Amino acid sequence: MPQQVRGVIARSKGAPVEIVPIIIPDPGPGEVVVAIAACGVCHTDLTYREGGINDEYPFLLGHEAAGVVESVGEGVESVEVGDFVVLNWRAVCGQCRACKRGRPQYCFDTFNATQKMTLEDGTELSPALGIGAFADKTLVHAGQCTKVDPSADPAVVGLLGCGVMAGMGAAMNTGNVGRGDSVAVIGCGGVGDAAIVGARLAGANRIIAVDRDNKKLDWARDLGATHTINATEFDVVEAVQDLTGGFGADVVIDAVGRPETWKQAFYARDLAGTVVLVGVPTPDMTLEMPLVDFFSRGGSLKSSWYGDCLPERDFPMLVDLYQQGRLPLEKFVTERIALDQVEEAFESMHRGEVLRSVVVL
Ligand SMILES: NC(=O)c1ccc[n+]([C@@H]2O[C@H](COP(=O)([O-])OP(=O)(O)OC[C@H]3O[C@@H](n4cnc5c(N)ncnc54)[C@H](O)[C@@H]3O)[C@@H](O)[C@H]2O)c1
Ligand SMILES: [Zn+2]
Ligand SMILES: [Zn+2]
Repeated sequence: MPQQVRGVIARSKGAPVEIVPIIIPDPGPGEVVVAIAACGVCHTDLTYREGGINDEYPFLLGHEAAGVVESVGEGVESVEVGDFVVLNWRAVCGQCRACKRGRPQYCFDTFNATQKMTLEDGTELSPALGIGAFADKTLVHAGQCTKVDPSADPAVVGLLGCGVMAGMGAAMNTGNVGRGDSVAVIGCGGVGDAAIVGARLAGANRIIAVDRDNKKLDWARDLGATHTINATEFDVVEAVQDLTGGFGADVVIDAVGRPETWKQAFYARDLAGTVVLVGVPTPDMTLEMPLVDFFSRGGSLKSSWYGDCLPERDFPMLVDLYQQGRLPLEKFVTERIALDQVEEAFESMHRGEVLRSVVVL
């Protein structure tokens, strides 16, 4: 029997989100219904609401979540009822050209649920990143459920489902940060601070945090930044160079995703260094710069989709490190809120008051 539960939707561009009844179908073949325990508020949810991803409204928002498997459809073997899972948006297909070449982290054909969740009148919902977890329950593909240690706090480990994994992976996987590297991170929200944590775990010896907001810089230092730069007070490129013997950092991570921050990342990098873009630009943004600068500075310019993670490999490992006290994931949870406070959480995010607001159900 399809169930009716509460969900948070964005109905049209820029309109405040609404909490409405939504209909969850019974899981079909390969599908799973998950009872959500917690879901973090990511900047990407706000980007969806503002039309920055696409215009397939209404969106069912929320995608950094953990919960418990409530029912499974035909043929599902990877999880069973009662399993504690973190939801992911990289259920790799195993069949596409990336998967076949042994690069499943780039999978071009990831699985989502086939059936649609709907509004009461039958209008089909577009779940954010194929998840839609600002809801009591959601319908996903079985591959989107990654089993982790059930004793972990869902509000904390759910964050691995997007922003924290994206940031940590931007440093550890995409940026390939290693022992002794210098790293600069531009934008110290949830994603940027996770990049700082990832850089530290990977052995970086100098980690420079850049933000416009001093409170964010304090948090970044608490999470492992060795130096901080307020971008409203200093020239970011010069300041990073000053802190790296005049050369620039080995790896610079842009966790904002704007032309000006990407250019700062490009020029604040040492020769043959790496730029990682993990912040998501909007379709209107463009970049113009001398081509010779690309050539003469060498190195690599990369984008990081979801931290180049493989959920099955990375989530249980990171939960384990967190449980051992080696990964301060709990510091990302600034506040715990109710399902009807997502709009307020967007405002707090906008005002820079939170790393993550987490909806707890
Ligand atoms: N690539 C991926 O797979 C992936 C996954 C999740 C999120 N994201 C993206 O990562 C970005 C960051 O997400 P978040 O949740 O951390 O957002 P957030 O709003 O919490 O953090 C952004 C931070 O950037 C700072 N900032 C803004 N403009 C700046 C500037 N010009 N110079 C320096 N700092 C500046 C803000 O003060 C804030 O601290 C977003 O674009 C989001 O969509 C990407
Ligand atoms: Zn694939
Ligand atoms: Zn996200």
